[in-house]
Amino acid sequence: MRKKVIAGNWKMNKVLSEATAFVDDVVGKVPNSDQVEAIVCAPFPYLSSLVEKTNGTKLRVAAQNMHFEENGAFTGEVSPAMLQDLGVTHVVLGHSERREYFAETDETVNKKTHAAFKHDLTPIVCVGETLEQREANQTMDHVATQVKKALEGLSDEQVANTIIAYEPIWAIGTGKTASSEDANEVCAQIRQVIKEVTTEDTAEKVVIQYGGSVKPSNIDELLATSDIDGALVGGASLEAESFLQLVEAGT
Ligand code: G3P
Repeated sequence: MRKKVIAGNWKMNKVLSEATAFVDDVVGKVPNSDQVEAIVCAPFPYLSSLVEKTNGTKLRVAAQNMHFEENGAFTGEVSPAMLQDLGVTHVVLGHSERREYFAETDETVNKKTHAAFKHDLTPIVCVGETLEQREANQTMDHVATQVKKALEGLSDEQVANTIIAYEPIWAIGTGKTASSEDANEVCAQIRQVIKEVTTEDTAEKVVIQYGGSVKPSNIDELLATSDIDGALVGGASLEAESFLQLVEAGT
């Protein structure tokens, strides 16, 4: 039985006082359940203080990106070792906004996925199609390629511990959610692709999230499907109350 993983991706939002107020509010209210994992994906400058605030609690802290190199002359970048040293547990990789605005490719996502495991970070690998690709019936080919490339060279155990976030780009921040049937269909096919490149047992362990205009009013329907094991949430994760409602839905 896979647990549900609800991750709030704040993107480039909140100043430090807002970030800490959110965590102070939420940290004691995250359900004490093994069924659900709650994560906040915060901007780099807040990770240290948020990790400190959440130490010993049920709330996990993730970074929204990182470099794949160990260290060196990469001005402005953050290494996997830095995140590990801070106590960050998860890292979002290959978000469509990074692919679109910051030249992230399947190849860099794969390097980052390997780097994450080297540093005991759980990767949350984002995949998803554009509206044009969906309309041209290319969704599955595109998503399958992204998944296979991201996981290339990982051991079955590492694949089993990877979180995949299926985020159709046309549903991000638009208020348009994929129907739970459509989202589940793609997530089920992602699991099938993973089965083909690893084993059935491995594929059954992989947590696959849906992301794209998830909110308290549609989370139940999404989580009730066979292959959606959680959500990666942008807008609706910014308010403590709605974030907690989303986490509660996972219990
Ligand atoms: O990573 C989460 C995301 O891209 C979805 O954003 O605002 O549509 O929930 P939103």
